[in-house]
Amino acid sequence: TDHYAVIGNPIKHSKSPLIHAEFARQTAQDLDYTAIEIPTDALQAGLETLRQQGFKGINVTVPFKEQVWQIVDHRTARAELAGAVNTVIFHEDGSLSGDTTDGVGLCRDLTENHQLILKNKRILLLGAGGAARGVIEPLLTLQPNEIFIANRTASKAEQLAEIFNHLGHVTGGGFAQVTGQYDVVINATAASLQGEVPPLPDQVLAAGACCYDMMYGKEDTAFIKWAKQHQAEKTLDGLGMLVEQAAEAFYLWRGVRPQTQAVIRLLRT
Ligand code: ATR
Repeated sequence: TDHYAVIGNPIKHSKSPLIHAEFARQTAQDLDYTAIEIPTDALQAGLETLRQQGFKGINVTVPFKEQVWQIVDHRTARAELAGAVNTVIFHEDGSLSGDTTDGVGLCRDLTENHQLILKNKRILLLGAGGAARGVIEPLLTLQPNEIFIANRTASKAEQLAEIFNHLGHVTGGGFAQVTGQYDVVINATAASLQGEVPPLPDQVLAAGACCYDMMYGKEDTAFIKWAKQHQAEKTLDGLGMLVEQAAEAFYLWRGVRPQTQAVIRLLRT
């Protein structure tokens, strides 16, 4: 049996053990997957312990994604750009490789699970923290017309846009600078956690617009409620992204692609 885990703090409510247990069952892979809380000031020691215990790989969640990015010996190109690592492979020689599957997880949920076409669409990305940064390059591979990054702190959105604007049409600014209409609005702010919605103009949604909250909950998030009130054609939460990023990590570790639809359905019930 090979050992895997998700590390974070807090980690109690993580759905990753359930998701990976389902993937393992489905693909008949001999592995176990646990959730491990690591003290916020003891990441380095925590990783060393997991390595010594023979773990083959880990997922990384809040608040360690950026720190693990610093620590790993090798990073994939997409992790390099994301500035964060959510999936680690422990190699036989003791070295660590870091990758990030969040962005591809979002894109798969949008394009495969929900059959959205982003080519030539206008995307409004809300937030300029780690969650937003991780999805920009993968979104650009879908060839949207443009991405506007809007953030409470305008300067952070401008800086983020500069990092990516050699890859496509990406600009950024404050919420007050949001003008025109968008086909896809993705919430990557932590505002939903406080039940808040970024201040957006009333006419910001184009006809047929899709609103996506990277957060999810039993009930509609504040952003999803806002989207429904503003006649979004589609409103989606981040549960599909969660399962898709897990599936991509599973694939990196095991070389087999699990089926995600059944697991998403299971988590909904
Ligand atoms: P994460 O890794 O989840 O992205 P983060 O890097 O701390 O976490 O970023 C949090 C994001 O949510 C930021 O874009 C933050 O805006 P600021 O950069 O201006 O701080 C945004 N955010 C948090 N609370 C918010 C709120 N109540 N309204 C709007 N934006 C909020």
